[in-house]
Amino acid sequence: METLIPIINRLQEVFLTVGAEVIQLPQIVVVGCQSSGKSSVLESLVGRDFLPRGSGIVTRRPLVLQLINVPPMKDFIIFNLRVFLSQGISPEPIYLKIFSPKVLNLTLVDLPGITKVPVGDQPEDIETQVQEMILSFIGNPNSLILAVSPANSDLATSDALKLAREADPDGRRTLLVVSKLDLMDAGTDALEVLLGRVIPVRLGIIGVVNRSQHDINTQKSLEDSLKDEHAFLQRHYPSLASRAGSRYLAKTLSRLLMHHIRDCLPELKTRLTVLSAQYQAQLNGYGQPVEDYSATLLQIVTKFASDYCNTIDGTARYIQTSELCGGARMCY
Ligand code: GDP
Ligand code: MG
Ligand code: NA
Repeated sequence: METLIPIINRLQEVFLTVGAEVIQLPQIVVVGCQSSGKSSVLESLVGRDFLPRGSGIVTRRPLVLQLINVPPMKDFIIFNLRVFLSQGISPEPIYLKIFSPKVLNLTLVDLPGITKVPVGDQPEDIETQVQEMILSFIGNPNSLILAVSPANSDLATSDALKLAREADPDGRRTLLVVSKLDLMDAGTDALEVLLGRVIPVRLGIIGVVNRSQHDINTQKSLEDSLKDEHAFLQRHYPSLASRAGSRYLAKTLSRLLMHHIRDCLPELKTRLTVLSAQYQAQLNGYGQPVEDYSATLLQIVTKFASDYCNTIDGTARYIQTSELCGGARMCY
């Protein structure tokens, strides 16, 4: 996702210059059963391990991770993280801000896992409580839903997908992540699932292998984990290896974010056109010959369009300069 950073930063500058609201990127929300691998998926997206994660550790409250892009300096994280170890759950989110030059201005939400059976002092209606909490996050039309379902459980009964469908019936905002490909029974594989033949998912189905509990205990690095994941995919899913894995997931999310930005651009363009007409009228009012600077901002946006097509490989085919500016040449 790092390729997006300079682009977003420049666009935000343009937006600020014309007094438009900065682009609000969708927040990415993970949904799935307990221990399905939600936190692991988020970590691989951020490229750091700092989330409460593991078999015994359960997220009881929504964790809202705000990634904030700052100019290059030492990375720092502001922890506002108090992990409540009660059995109860609470819809009150915990906020964690991460300031870094290496992140996009993006919000990721790690939600408590879907539970069925109350344990310990959990209330009888724990299932409903958690579902309502999840729906309140994924119901937000500005949320991209990452439904995480482990490969070693039946996709047809996936509660993650069921909830995602409820919040996003058209499937415009839902991506299915199939985790734990490495934990399937010998002699079985997830090929049919990954090809969308079991349940089709409009935005895509991406298989991943995250770190196992043993990997975490032995402090395997994220980098090694990505390498091993790649090797696993090459060996077991050669035909799909280029469309699976954590890196591909990150790329896919970048592409979806780009689509979102593209959708914001026509409004920016309209705004720029109006502003430039206003200033032109003002200048005309002065009755003096002046050089025409009015196209400058539009040029920046158009430049963005072509830079963007060059920068994000694999996405260029989704986007044409003419789409961005409603006909780039029309701008002038
Ligand atoms: P969450 O409860 O959904 O947030 O799940 P976590 O990310 O905390 O993962 C739960 C457990 O499953 C941890 O012990 C992880 O190490 C393990 N895990 C997650 N994904 C995978 C995977 O793809 N393969 C294997 N072998 N273990 C995984
Ligand atoms: Mg978790
Ligand atoms: Na699930």
